[in-house]
Amino acid sequence: MTTRPGVGPHVRGQGLVVHRAGRAILDRVDIDASPGVVTAVTGASGAGKSTLLWVIAGLIEPDEGSISPDDRFDLSAVVVQSYALLPVLTAKENVELPLLMRGVTGEEAARRTEEALAQAGLPDLQDRLAEELSGGQRQRVAVARALAMRARLLVADEPTAELDATAAALVVSALRAEAEAGATVVLSTNDPALAAQCDRVYRLHDGAIQPDTSPTEPD
Ligand SMILES: Nc1ncnc2c1ncn2[C@@H]1O[C@H](COP(=O)(O)OP(=O)(O)O)[C@@H](O)[C@H]1O
Ligand SMILES: [Mg+2]
Repeated sequence: MTTRPGVGPHVRGQGLVVHRAGRAILDRVDIDASPGVVTAVTGASGAGKSTLLWVIAGLIEPDEGSISPDDRFDLSAVVVQSYALLPVLTAKENVELPLLMRGVTGEEAARRTEEALAQAGLPDLQDRLAEELSGGQRQRVAVARALAMRARLLVADEPTAELDATAAALVVSALRAEAEAGATVVLSTNDPALAAQCDRVYRLHDGAIQPDTSPTEPD
C-alpha cells in the first residue's frame, strides 16, 4: 500500500455565498474542515449541502466570501450524488481509469482498485458493467473510485443515501480510515445516525448554517 502524498489541507471557508436563479442558495456560510477528522454537513433536501460540498472541493467558486487553500480542486477526490460512472465500463474500469489518467502505473492502479472495491464492499462485482449494477452498488463503486485516489481532501456527497445499514457502515469506516490516514474528509448526509458518527457536524437550513450543530439532533 502506497502512502498518500501528505496530510490533508485545513479547509477554511468564510462568508460563503452562492447565488442561483436570483437567490442565495448558500448564505454567508462559515465552515472549517481539518485533516484527520470526518466533518459532516447535514440538512434536509434542498438545504444547500451539495452546493457547499462543491465549493469545498473547488468544483465551483463562491460568489462572495473566501475559502482556502486555493488548490483544493487538485487535492480532492469527490463522490458526487449522481455517481458519474461511465455506464459501459466495468466497476473495476471505472475505479482504475482516473488513476491511469493521473499517471498511476497499471500494476499500482489494479492493486488500489481491488483494495478500494473490497473496502466499499464490492469485491465480487468488479467485472460487472456499471449499467448493470443496482443504485446502491453504483454508489459503492463511486465511493471506491474516490478511495482509490488516495486524495488529501475527500469530499463525499450523501455517500450512503442508497445503502442498507451494513453497507453504509462499511462506507463510513472506509471514510474514517482515510481521515485516520491524514486526509481531510467532508461528507454530507440527511441521516442523523450517520451525522452522529462524525467528529464535527454543520447543519444547513435554507443555505445557512444553524448555530446548534449537535450531531444527535434530528433535522
Ligand atoms: N444551478 C442551480 N440553479 C438554480 N437553483 C439551484 C441550482 N443548484 C441548486 N439549486 C437550488 O439550491 C438549493 C440547494 O440545492 P443543493 O445544494 O442541491 O441542496 P441539497 O444538496 O441539500 O439537497 C435547492 O433549492 C436547489 O433547487
Ligand atoms: Mg444534494
